[in-house]
Amino acid sequence: MCGIIGYAGPRKTSNVLLEGLRRLEYRGYDSAGIAVGGGANPSGQLRIVKSVGKISALKAAIPPDVDGVWGIGHTRWATHGGVTQTNAHPHTDNSGKIAVVHNGIIENHVALKTMLQKKGCVFKTETDSEVIPHLIAQYYKGDLLEAVKAAVQNLEGTYGIACIHADEPGRIVGARNGSPLIVGVGAGEIFLASDITAMVAYTDKVVYLNDGELVDLTPDSYSILDRDEQKVERPMNQITWELGSIEKGDFPCYMEKEIFEQPESIARALSGRIDMENATAKLGGLNLDRSRLLNVGRVKIIAAGTSWHAGLVGSYLLEQVARIPAQAELASEIRYKNPVVEKDSLWFTVSQSGETADSLFAMREVQRKGATVLGICNVVGSTIARESDGGIYVHSGPEIAVASTKAFTSQLAAFYLFTLLSARMRHMSREEGQRFAASLQSVPDLVAQTLKTRDLVQRIAKKYCRAANFLFLGRGILYPIALEGALKLKEISYIHAEGCSAGEMKHGPIALISPEVPSVFLVSDDYLREKTISNIREIKARGGPVIAVGVYGDSETENLVDAFIPVPKMDPRFYPFAMIVPLQLFAYFCALELGRDVDQPRNLAKSVTVE
Ligand code: M6R
Repeated sequence: MCGIIGYAGPRKTSNVLLEGLRRLEYRGYDSAGIAVGGGANPSGQLRIVKSVGKISALKAAIPPDVDGVWGIGHTRWATHGGVTQTNAHPHTDNSGKIAVVHNGIIENHVALKTMLQKKGCVFKTETDSEVIPHLIAQYYKGDLLEAVKAAVQNLEGTYGIACIHADEPGRIVGARNGSPLIVGVGAGEIFLASDITAMVAYTDKVVYLNDGELVDLTPDSYSILDRDEQKVERPMNQITWELGSIEKGDFPCYMEKEIFEQPESIARALSGRIDMENATAKLGGLNLDRSRLLNVGRVKIIAAGTSWHAGLVGSYLLEQVARIPAQAELASEIRYKNPVVEKDSLWFTVSQSGETADSLFAMREVQRKGATVLGICNVVGSTIARESDGGIYVHSGPEIAVASTKAFTSQLAAFYLFTLLSARMRHMSREEGQRFAASLQSVPDLVAQTLKTRDLVQRIAKKYCRAANFLFLGRGILYPIALEGALKLKEISYIHAEGCSAGEMKHGPIALISPEVPSVFLVSDDYLREKTISNIREIKARGGPVIAVGVYGDSETENLVDAFIPVPKMDPRFYPFAMIVPLQLFAYFCALELGRDVDQPRNLAKSVTVE
C-alpha cells in the first residue's frame, strides 16, 4: 500500500514526481503529495503540495512555480487517520525543513508520539507516519543520514521511507524494513521508489534494497548501509521492461488490456519450459536437486486473494495428477497458526507483486521453522522472489489493474509445469506426459479462442449487472475458479458475490436463491458434469436465474440455463485457464456498466504491503 518516490537530478522535479506517482497510483489513491526543494524555491525551504484524491487532483493543485532540483512524493492508501489533505504525505517536523514519505505502519507510534510531544513536538496529523520526521529532527545535527540512522532504531513496524532536508539540496535518504524500496540510477540523476514502474520511463538500472538497509542518494551516487551500518557493495540490475508494457495502448482500461494479453502472457510463462521430447518441464530456478524433488511428500502453498485461488487450483492438480498431497493456505491465517513444517514438505509462496505483507511474513515464519520455500512471483527482484529458496517467475509483464487477471493464469501455468515435472518423476508415463504437455502447450490458443466470447459476455453482463447478489459455483478443480470469479466481481463492481462449491450449495447457500439472485455455474465435461447439472436443476427448480460457462456443444446445459457462454473443448484438467476468462470479462463489463472505476476500485490497492 502507498507508493513513494524520490528524485534528484536535472529534470523538472515536480514532473518526475507526478509521473512516478501516476505509475504508482495502483498502490493507493486516497490522497497524494510532493515536497520539493532547490531551484527557484527560496533556499533552505521546501515547498509542499498535498491534495485529496487521485494524482490528477494533485497535478491540478501544484502551482507552476513549484519546482526544484530534488524532492519526494507519495500516493496514499489510508491506514491511520482519515482521507484528508492534512493526513496526506509528505509529513514534516516542526521546522518544516525535514520532509518524509512513508509506506508501511509504525506500530509503536502512540508511544513515540507521547515521548515526542513531551519534548515539545507539535503534531498536525492523525497518521502514524508523522512520528518519523519529528524523530529525525531530534537526532539531526547537520547530517541527514546520521539522523535517519538513529531515528529508525526507534521504529517498530514496517517502513519504506524517503526523507529530505531543506539544507541538504540534492540528498535523499531512504530506509527499508518490510516495505519495498528500489534505487534507480540514471546519468547524473537518481530515483528512489516503491516500484520499478515509477522510474522505468527514465532508467533501466536499478538496485534493490533489503530489509534493515539505509540508502544515501545524490544525483551522482548511491551508498547502502546494512543493519550493522556496514557499507554494502551492491551491483546494479538491468531491467528489461519496456515503457509500452505499462501503458494502456488502445484499451480503455488496464484490466481489459491485461485480460486480452493472456494468450501471450501464458505463452511467456510456458516459453522454453516444456520439454516435449522427454514429456517433462524444465524449471531452472527451483534450486532443488532430483532426490529432493523426488522425496517431496507434501506441498503447502501460501498466498492471498487471487494468488491463493491459483494455489488452490495448484493443490487440486498436484494431488490429482502428481499424487502429492497438497494444500493451499491463506497467508494471513497460516502465519499465526504455528504451522507444522514436515521434513519432506515443499512450500510455495505465490504472489504477483512479491511484496504482499501477509504472504511475505508467513513465508518467513515457515522458513524459520526450516521450510524450503519456492516463490511463484511475477515481479522480478521483489522481496518474496529474493527471499525464497528458489522459484518460478511467471513473466506476465507488469500488471497494473488492481484486479489481477493475467498474473492469475500465468501462476496457473507455473503450477501445471511443476505438476508435469513432479508427475513424470513419479508414476506418469512418457505417453501420458506428452498428452499433458501438449494440452499445456495449446492453452494460449484455447484462451485466445475463449476471448472471442467478449461481446456475448458483455450482453449478458448488461442484462444481469443490476442484481445485488450473485453466487458462483463449480466443482473440483473449477471450485477455485468459482471463488476467483466471485472475487473479481465484488472487487471491481461492488456487487456482493459468493463463490461456493456446487456440492456444498445444498448445505446452506441454496437458501439465498430467488429470481433476484443469479448463479454462475462452471460446467466441465468430466466425471463431475452430471452432478453439476443436477445442482443447476436444483437452482432452476427454485426460480433462480442461471448463467453457465460450459463446453462448446453442450446443448443439454445450454438448453437448461438462462445464458450460456461456451469455451472450447479441451482436456478437462485445463478448463481453469479457459473458464476464468469469461468470468473476468463478466466482472469487467458489469463494472463498466455500473460506471465503476475498473482499474482503481474503491478501498483497494494493488500491492498490500501492510498486514
Ligand atoms: O501481489 P499478490 O499476488 O501477493 O496479491 C495478493 C492479493 O492481494 C491480490 O491477488 C488481490 O486479491 C487482487 N486484488 C485480486 O484481484
